[in-house]
Amino acid sequence: MRQEIAVKAEQSAIPSSDPFGLFEEWFAQARESEPNDPNAMALATATPGGAPSVRMVLLKGHGADGYVFYTNAQSRKGQEIRANMQAALLFHWKSLRRQIRIEGPLEEVSAAMADDYFHSRPHVSQIASAASDQSRPLADRSEYYDRVAKLEEEYPEGSNVPRPAHWTGFRLRPRAMEFWLDRPGRMHDRRRFELAGAGDALSWEDRLLYP
Ligand SMILES: Cc1cc2nc3c(=O)[nH]c(=O)nc-3n(C[C@H](O)[C@H](O)[C@H](O)COP(=O)(O)O)c2cc1C
Repeated sequence: MRQEIAVKAEQSAIPSSDPFGLFEEWFAQARESEPNDPNAMALATATPGGAPSVRMVLLKGHGADGYVFYTNAQSRKGQEIRANMQAALLFHWKSLRRQIRIEGPLEEVSAAMADDYFHSRPHVSQIASAASDQSRPLADRSEYYDRVAKLEEEYPEGSNVPRPAHWTGFRLRPRAMEFWLDRPGRMHDRRRFELAGAGDALSWEDRLLYP
């Protein structure tokens, strides 16, 4: 038995440098293998009092300057973000049996960037998000449909739907990134990267964690 464990023991398969490069590699593989929304991620926020909440959003920008999603800033998440500009992201790619956690402060994207993304969406999505008071009570779904119909009349297909000022994007700038890889016999592989230092002297430090 002891010998079997020794035989199975192996070095980590998660490289110890360049967490952004590693994210790109795993994300590219997820795009190949996931049947739906490989860019779906759980977004965790918290109130100033520390009460957490979590929901799915879509990753719409990624790279060394951070991870971007778009939403309604007057929604529950938007209000929590405005009060506490920190969040955590979680990707779980089931078919790959992999998880990535990303944590850090948030900043709002520029109005130009929010405009560009808003107008890149299908006309119907622009109308439907402009018509939605996201996270607020809806007495009846017909109320929402009426609002959509009104906006469609005002801004028919082909016309420019103005982006509501509260419909915007946020960029999470990672201070920590953690990669988890399924391994046989529960002996999973886990590596956490954390930004250390200050100012221009920031660098990633990493360590393996017990799974
Ligand atoms: C796969 C998936 C992707 C989603 N993507 C987004 C998104 O990009 N932006 C968004 O505002 N809501 C998105 N939603 C809806 C949110 O999960 C949530 O219902 C909504 O944003 C309201 O959340 P809140 O009340 O915490 O603000 C998505 C839901 C799912 C299941």
